[in-house]
Amino acid sequence: MTAMTTMTERPQRDGSRAPSVVLRVEDLTVEVRTEQGTLTLIEGVDLTVRSDEIVGLVGESGSGKTVTSLATMGLLPRNARVSRGRIEVAGQEITGLPERRLADVRGVRAAMIFQEPRRCLNPAFTVGDQVAEAIRRHRGWSRKRAMAHTVDLFGLVEIPDPERRVRQYPHEFSGGMCQRVMLAMALACDPQLLIADEPTTALDVTVQRQVLELIRRLQAELGIGVLLITHDLGVVAEMCDRVSVMYAGQVVEEADADSLFHSPKNPYTSALLQSILEPTRHGEALTYIPGRVPPPHLFPATCRFQERCGFAVDEVCGQVVDLQPVAAGHSSRCARVHDLELAGVSE
Ligand SMILES: Nc1ncnc2c1ncn2[C@@H]1O[C@H](COP(=O)(O)OP(=O)(O)O)[C@@H](O)[C@H]1O
Ligand SMILES: [Mg+2]
Repeated sequence: MTAMTTMTERPQRDGSRAPSVVLRVEDLTVEVRTEQGTLTLIEGVDLTVRSDEIVGLVGESGSGKTVTSLATMGLLPRNARVSRGRIEVAGQEITGLPERRLADVRGVRAAMIFQEPRRCLNPAFTVGDQVAEAIRRHRGWSRKRAMAHTVDLFGLVEIPDPERRVRQYPHEFSGGMCQRVMLAMALACDPQLLIADEPTTALDVTVQRQVLELIRRLQAELGIGVLLITHDLGVVAEMCDRVSVMYAGQVVEEADADSLFHSPKNPYTSALLQSILEPTRHGEALTYIPGRVPPPHLFPATCRFQERCGFAVDEVCGQVVDLQPVAAGHSSRCARVHDLELAGVSE
């Protein structure tokens, strides 16, 4: 899969213009046909991203983050479908659009980058040709003009010596540089929304930091809304304005980043926060929440975190629980939310 391109000449949007909603996901529910029958992978997911913010989507592996992002881009695998809800990208409703129209939305309004950028590049062509080809496909430009624009975009994503680098092949690029190439390809489409699914998980720590800083700069300068998907709360702490926490196919907490880190209202979030604090506290390996995220065919009808939750009480927690507002801009899916004092990260 590749990020795609658009019609406007340069990503030059003014980051200071009035922010707009670039992603609105409501009640998103995705079903998949499997040997075990039809399973619901994610259920009732709501998300909003504005053009002036980075929203984190966080949760352990297997919680449904990637399924959510693929559905949002209309990129679900064949056996899966959106069975309920709606998705609006930069004001365009995309639920139910035929593939041809979806490709336009992906091309013009939204772009996505992935965990393994190298896999998105063809080893047989130079990186410059691949980015330029994407530009040509969308804008019908000459080869020369598209390549000149590619050099500009490489500059924008801080690839040193862009004139030379466009002529090189993917194997001549490090992982971090490949991700910059994918960002250049994403920006070629002047998107209003960027979805980044674990964009730095495969990179070492120093490079991870550089790529994250680049994403933050691009967000602010170009006014692109970013949905940043990660299992790493450290990344969320550095990057995000607001956060949605997913567990077992549902959003379990949603808040601005400060509230989420300092006063979490869901035991799952609190446990995730404690697990990242552990290493510094005890100087030893990260302790994680015992057990694991249940697979979709084992989702309980009760609170889905109940069996791993240190605060669970059968009489209260053994029922379906909705996401409910607990403060302005802060919601939690926990039947005991008003009884609990949960630990967050202290300042
Ligand atoms: N095409 C599919 N068919 C069946 N199960 C799937 C499919 N895609 C994802 N799943 C399951 O959905 C759950 C959520 O997956 P995913 O969104 O990739 O999690 P995350 O990105 O949070 O790690 C996992 O249990 C995964 O095995
Ligand atoms: Mg994933």
